[in-house]
Amino acid sequence: MSQSKPNNVLVLGAGGGLGQAMIARFLTDPEVDHVIAVSRNGQPQDLSAPWIAHSRLVWIESEYDQQSMLNVIGQLAPFAGEIGRVCICHGILHDDHFWPEKRFEDIDSSAMHEIFQANTIIPTLWLKLLHKTLAGKAPCIVAVFSARVGSTSDNRLGGWYSYRASKAALNSLLKSFAVEYARRLKNVKLIAFHPGTVDTDLSKPFQASVPEQNLFSPAFVADQLAKIMANAEVDGQLSYLDWEGKAIQF
Ligand SMILES: NC(=O)c1ccc[n+]([C@@H]2O[C@H](COP(=O)([O-])OP(=O)(O)OC[C@H]3O[C@@H](n4cnc5c(N)ncnc54)[C@H](OP(=O)(O)O)[C@@H]3O)[C@@H](O)[C@H]2O)c1
Repeated sequence: MSQSKPNNVLVLGAGGGLGQAMIARFLTDPEVDHVIAVSRNGQPQDLSAPWIAHSRLVWIESEYDQQSMLNVIGQLAPFAGEIGRVCICHGILHDDHFWPEKRFEDIDSSAMHEIFQANTIIPTLWLKLLHKTLAGKAPCIVAVFSARVGSTSDNRLGGWYSYRASKAALNSLLKSFAVEYARRLKNVKLIAFHPGTVDTDLSKPFQASVPEQNLFSPAFVADQLAKIMANAEVDGQLSYLDWEGKAIQF
């Protein structure tokens, strides 16, 4: 990391394609002391990934109801004030029983609730619960995975009602957090991050129409985000940035 201490990294929603890539990226940085990963699933057992058994990786298995999240906060106590990077990676677009809406007749209340829960409410709860863990003098950069489709001004195509709205709502909540954090957690910088289209389970069903050069590997995007975070200024503002570090209009 280019900034001096603290050198611990927290990855929330760590079991997905981008979460695992962020962990791998930070573990290659010799200046990072620990990467703490939180996931509903256990630590991946794929031994072909050399970083998995890494002694600097702390894996916490947890559900995302408020009590479980509070228990995670308790487990983070030894790292309080010493976390310099946070990646909040939760997100769903499709599932066995729902699909992004093509037209308004497709809108389904239970699917919408599930999408908002994962994409909007859980990241929001983390930002609420983490305030004592992140408070301190040293800079802490928090990247929350959003998406360009969450930009209201960029919405020319319509469709994907729930996913779009869940990310737009996430961006709006992040803006409110940035205002309050600027008063109460002056060491924290918030970034709403659009990774581009990345080859993970989330994008798999939609990759056929994406030109090859526009489909990124998780490792490439993780490297881009790590660089963006290293260069971020703690300015009390929310930045809405893409994988190139370019600003996106809300
Ligand atoms: N891939 C893309 O092309 C793309 C494009 C734009 C934005 N994004 C955003 O990037 C982020 C990471 O996506 P990804 O591509 O890595 O997707 P992914 O491989 O499907 O991973 C999704 C992550 O979301 C968490 N999650 C899934 N269902 C959840 C639920 N019901 N409740 C709480 N958490 C849940 C999982 O956490 P666990 O570890 O607990 O399983 C997992 O880490 C998401 O916010 C996504 O919207 C991705």
